[in-house]
Amino acid sequence: MVSMTRPKIVVLGSFNADLVMYVDRLPAPGETISGRRFATGPGGKGSNQAVAAARLDGDVTFVGRVGIDSFANIGFELWQKEGVKSDYVSRDSARATGIASIAVEESGENIIMVALGANLAVTHGDIDAAAAVIERADVLMVQLETNLDAVEYALRAAKKAGVITILNPAPAVPLPAEMLALADFLTPNQTELQTLTGNQGLSVPDAARSLISSEKQTVVVTLGAQGAAWFRRAGQGSSSAYKVNVMDAVGAGDAFNAGLAVALAEGMELPEALAFAGAAAAVSVTRPGAAASMPYRNEVDELLQRRG
Ligand code: RIB
Repeated sequence: MVSMTRPKIVVLGSFNADLVMYVDRLPAPGETISGRRFATGPGGKGSNQAVAAARLDGDVTFVGRVGIDSFANIGFELWQKEGVKSDYVSRDSARATGIASIAVEESGENIIMVALGANLAVTHGDIDAAAAVIERADVLMVQLETNLDAVEYALRAAKKAGVITILNPAPAVPLPAEMLALADFLTPNQTELQTLTGNQGLSVPDAARSLISSEKQTVVVTLGAQGAAWFRRAGQGSSSAYKVNVMDAVGAGDAFNAGLAVALAEGMELPEALAFAGAAAAVSVTRPGAAASMPYRNEVDELLQRRG
């Protein structure tokens, strides 16, 4: 049954100030090219997901760590404006706020380099401080731009409380099986899926199935323009992508994960939840920026209605 109250979502994750160069084409190694435009704006996979979940009508708390520099202020201003609760974002006097250096080419394709700084210093104490909020949440969502021990600690707290857990393994690193098992939903893209399975060149279904450790676990693989596919021990399915004009794909995965979190927290079944998540990602790629491009609920609902 679909719930009528705003779903409670906690996102543990990264905030980065994104320094974005818009170029005609991405440079080759050793090459210098001229940019068309430069912009600074809020990003970080965790914060992007928190902003998207709030725009999609979630009651969202963001847990993370930033520096005491002026880049951190971009984050606090954003969360206040977007209605994301930031009471559990700590400030670290010894480390800088995360930075992402991004290039986006004409086709919407991008490259991203991150210096994660304070994002990698989240303590168990930071998570303990938010324990009551995590335990009352419908969904806890995490990614991998935060130190892994903190990610695992938060997943354990959520699992113990019966909260739905989403692990978006981005950017991917090989993860221990015990950590993967803490995720009710694992949401790699194809590259991340290969990293998680040791780059053995397995097919998407074989790789996804090899990650599943219980009946309750679902692996959702995002496939870009091909949509998404899901795998459980008991079955599998897919969801096609929406046809939109791609302007900037930065943050598309974040919008997808936020859509999935909101949909699951609202009690949608998986096929419906994936359609909702796909629509959220589709809206995000039609405009530039990371946090700035995150979708609003009415836009997602309209896209879903148009498809019928
Ligand atoms: O997913 C997009 C995000 O990845 C950017 O906002 C950048 O900060 C990096 O974390």
